[in-house]
Amino acid sequence: MIQVQLIEELKNNIKEAKFSNKSIGFVPTMGYLHEGHMSLVKQARRENDYVVMSIFVNPAQFGPNEDLAKYPRDLQRDSKMAKEAGVDLLFFPQVNEMYPQDGGISIQAGTQANILCGSSRPGHFDGVLKVVTKLFHLVEPKTVYFGQKDAQQLAIIETLVKDYNFPLEVRRVETVREPDGLAKSSRNVFLSPKERSEAPMIRKAIKLGHEHFKLNQDIARAKQITIQHIEDNISGKIDYVELLSYPSLTNDLLNDTDVILAVAVFFENVRLIDNMMWNIKERY
Ligand code: PAF
Repeated sequence: MIQVQLIEELKNNIKEAKFSNKSIGFVPTMGYLHEGHMSLVKQARRENDYVVMSIFVNPAQFGPNEDLAKYPRDLQRDSKMAKEAGVDLLFFPQVNEMYPQDGGISIQAGTQANILCGSSRPGHFDGVLKVVTKLFHLVEPKTVYFGQKDAQQLAIIETLVKDYNFPLEVRRVETVREPDGLAKSSRNVFLSPKERSEAPMIRKAIKLGHEHFKLNQDIARAKQITIQHIEDNISGKIDYVELLSYPSLTNDLLNDTDVILAVAVFFENVRLIDNMMWNIKERY
């Protein structure tokens, strides 16, 4: 595996891969890799000749009161895991390499960013769009891989790619879970032992809401059942429970829409998210 920090080195390697007609699969990450990231790499490996991963804790997507400084980092471990998973090229730039000067040009997410995580993280998705736009231009991938756990991010990136005709395909990759159902996340390390034992109830609550919706098509009741299960079993505080169309993330649930039941819960030192997506026609 080749490891590079500079854009110029990245571009040289990309040029070589393109010259050899290799299809490029790209997995953007913020590091502290876990099995969720590995499943993105596995799929990229299966579908491409050349796999690029980036590790960059992107300051543009952290708000002033967010956890940029304490975001977990372990480049040595990450690079070992990336190599073992079959990454060909690892790009881990410094902040001044990615953002040498600010020309004041920003990319703004649309209405999809005003709800769910976007309402408590103003500007977050603009920061995500800024970094992925830059990375997509640098890596020039044929296919990019994102996890369904970050469903709002995925929906907004799909919209960016469609609206601005990026010549690439976005793959939605299923969430990887712990044996007890908790979605894998770099942030799980911030849970206390008690919170860790409660956290799988988020998944259970979503499943109950989904089952209810399939029986009765009652949005308000499905949300209420999900909320109730969380409140009865988790000491953390609900940020949101929403049932929306996907990927437009609106309340207009048409007959042929994919829908998402999305949940976020605040624990003492971390906020966890999870979701389930299905087609509205799915019934019992
Ligand atoms: O999902 C992430 O890890 C980040 O938001 C991403 C897409 C790598 C952009 O920094």
